[in-house]
Amino acid sequence: MITRRQALFLGLGTVGGLGATFFGRLRAQQLYQESLADPKRDFSVTGDLPLGDRALAKGLLYGAAVHTDYLADPDFESLFWHECKILVPENELQSKNLRPTPDRFDFTKADRLAQLAHEHDLQIRGHSLIWHILLPDWFTEVVNAQNAEQFLINHIQTVAGRYAGQMHSWDVLNEAIETGDDRSDGLKKTPWLELLGPEYIELAFRTAAEADPHALLVYNDYGLEYETRLGYAKRRATLRMLEQLKTKGVPIHALGIQSHLNAADVNFNPTGFRAFLQDVASLDLKILVTELDVTDRYLPVDTVIRDRIIASVYEDYLAVVLDEPATIGVLTWGLSDRHTWLSWSSPREDNLPVRPLPWDAQLNRKLAWNAIARAFDNAPSR
Ligand code: XIL
Repeated sequence: MITRRQALFLGLGTVGGLGATFFGRLRAQQLYQESLADPKRDFSVTGDLPLGDRALAKGLLYGAAVHTDYLADPDFESLFWHECKILVPENELQSKNLRPTPDRFDFTKADRLAQLAHEHDLQIRGHSLIWHILLPDWFTEVVNAQNAEQFLINHIQTVAGRYAGQMHSWDVLNEAIETGDDRSDGLKKTPWLELLGPEYIELAFRTAAEADPHALLVYNDYGLEYETRLGYAKRRATLRMLEQLKTKGVPIHALGIQSHLNAADVNFNPTGFRAFLQDVASLDLKILVTELDVTDRYLPVDTVIRDRIIASVYEDYLAVVLDEPATIGVLTWGLSDRHTWLSWSSPREDNLPVRPLPWDAQLNRKLAWNAIARAFDNAPSR
């Protein structure tokens, strides 16, 4: 269902698209922002239930990424356990942080998070077994065409095997599609692809399934949320890859949609995104929103307006995602503006503190919290 607001900006977007003048686009952008900042928009929430409980009431999971260091703050820690029903280690399970040397794994921090999740009755999901970023510094010197297959198998067997039976799900493979790399299969030219060819993907999922038959095995990626030329291409390439894997009987169970949203991007089309989610579900795959946050990089200075726009983006996006029965959970990439990767990965030009997450840096709830709470409260039950 397209809302009045979306119809307005879609129409403008079309006009902008047809006779794309700078001012036409700017006007569309302005109208879009004004509609998102609508002072009359209702963000009221009934009761005080935490987000995790509201999600659970609909058969969904809500949680967040967390770093062991963040939990050293008692106020943050108690908020985290109060609101979340699942956690994902932000970095502790990345190979760079697990493998100080080629022959040694250091699971200290990852084990700590797994233990804390267990103690606080939270589920835990793993992120990520195979990625081309946060590889150990020694990777390129040590891993070569002759040993890469055994290295990949050993890594997954050791890491996924260690937590077998504990993990809700694993991001087995992260960010492997890049249509700009001009391959007909749309795969990103990563060290894994260069060393092993496209077969590394099937190998990773089959190895993970053997190492932990209990975990949901997830392909995780970004850039699927907006209807830009690259977004369309990435959706098509991702669906094609997933369909090929499923056809071959590869044990893959879900698509992780990172959902790093941009409140200034006018290319979110609820109808088109809903259709994409339906296409994913039709492959007998579940859907996880794995790294949700909304950058306010290009928004006005005024934090009241910024928070309203951010909250609108959260609620409009989640209304679409949660309408898809295959969606099983939502994790935000952090809880509080105190700890967000966007501070350095997407800083504002005016250098004002960014405000992308449901709680502010002082751990006060924001309208974004209301928006997410409303999305869970209004979601159909699973
Ligand atoms: C980021 C973390 O938040 C940072 O702390 C780290 O330095 C780099 O990675 N997509 C992903 C995540 O899959 O692993 C990334 O997280 C953000 C983009």
